[in-house]
Amino acid sequence: MNDVYHIFSSPQALAKQFATYFAEWILKNLRIKDYICIALSGGNTPQLWFTTLAQYYVNQINWERLHFFWVDERYVSYEHIESNYGIARKLLFDHVNIPLNHIHPIPVTGNIRRDVLTYCDELKRYVPLKNGWPVFDMMILGMGTDGHTASIFPNQLDLFHHHDVACISENPYIRQQRITLTGQVINHAENIYVLVTGSEKTQILNDVLHEIPGSEQYPIAYVRRENTFWWIDTSAAQMLENT
Ligand code: 6PG
Repeated sequence: MNDVYHIFSSPQALAKQFATYFAEWILKNLRIKDYICIALSGGNTPQLWFTTLAQYYVNQINWERLHFFWVDERYVSYEHIESNYGIARKLLFDHVNIPLNHIHPIPVTGNIRRDVLTYCDELKRYVPLKNGWPVFDMMILGMGTDGHTASIFPNQLDLFHHHDVACISENPYIRQQRITLTGQVINHAENIYVLVTGSEKTQILNDVLHEIPGSEQYPIAYVRRENTFWWIDTSAAQMLENT
């Protein structure tokens, strides 16, 4: 296994270190780029990172040269407790000086078919393209306890290979509609960071990283390996630490 992974003692330690790393990475890359495009995932893991950035890095990051997009969104209003954009706005963007037009939430107007097309257009308009695919500078992913990533769940692998840059999906457990980036966009990113915390992910994470037969059922297994950096807490890394 030649993946690059870093193990941290807790989700808090991971979030703190990722905030420091992020600030340094942005500083370094803004020396060679006019602006940087970042795709954010939802769920719980990034929230600690948002909070750390808002607490310690408000003035250390050139926010006005960053563009933030979402890897996926639950199809609920931005005020809903589960809104990925709503959570990021509350924990981070309400606390930093970033132009509003640099924040590109996935639209949730009530017409999901129109919203996914709007988001596809926004991605192609603002994110540099390579062979027609938006190329994010930094793609930040999570992994669910079932091995999903973005909002591509097991038994939805066709969405990983979807022909467009974003599509409609569904959380099959609660039948909740989602809009998600598709696999080509994920794997076209220059740098991919996968943040994984929690003991309930130990087995799948181990199986995917070791390419154990059967792990191909998990969407996270289709995230490319080169230039992908796994940031993991000790709970999720229990089976890895002996390798
Ligand atoms: C979402 C996310 C999803 C998330 C994983 C891990 O909208 O739920 O984008 O892909 O990254 O479910 O979530 P946790 O960090 O909460 O474990």
